Amino acid sequence: MNNYVLIGFMGCGKSTIGAALAETLKLPMLDTDAWIEEKQGRTISTIFAEDGEPAFRDMETACIRELIESEEAYVISTGGGLPMREENRALLKELGQVIYLKVSADEVCKRLAGDTTRPLLQCENPRARVEALLAEREAKYMAAADRVLCVDGKSVDEIVTEIL
Ligand code: S3P
Repeated sequence: MNNYVLIGFMGCGKSTIGAALAETLKLPMLDTDAWIEEKQGRTISTIFAEDGEPAFRDMETACIRELIESEEAYVISTGGGLPMREENRALLKELGQVIYLKVSADEVCKRLAGDTTRPLLQCENPRARVEALLAEREAKYMAAADRVLCVDGKSVDEIVTEIL
């Protein structure tokens, strides 16, 4: 399939880059978090609080399963934890070209300082959580990706040009 799939850690810019890439390529954009929130009529934070993380992960799998059925090509931006399931990694590969936007812990902490919308980072020490999650996830992002792009210090335009 011909989709462009953006993966990577929270705050790496998947949604922003996805929107710019979609505009350049004249393709529709789909954000898995936004898809889930719309379908559920609840925010991600509420879904985590009311149903728990495993239920949210099932919703992510349902979202990409539905995309596999679609005839239309999209630029797809994914939730940061979506590629952690092996099943999801296989589905992403089926969807198209998977691009990993690689970001450092420093950059994530700078960009997400004060953010209240990511339930996984609402803790005593968000920096330690970011570092631990990044370390835990890196190999899975790499396994899911066809291409890797480092995004630290780069503008949206630079990243879109690199992707193209
Ligand atoms: C998550 C990332 C979030 C969202 C949820 C869980 C994660 O998406 O799906 O809060 O596990 O990394 P973004 O990567 O768009 O922030």
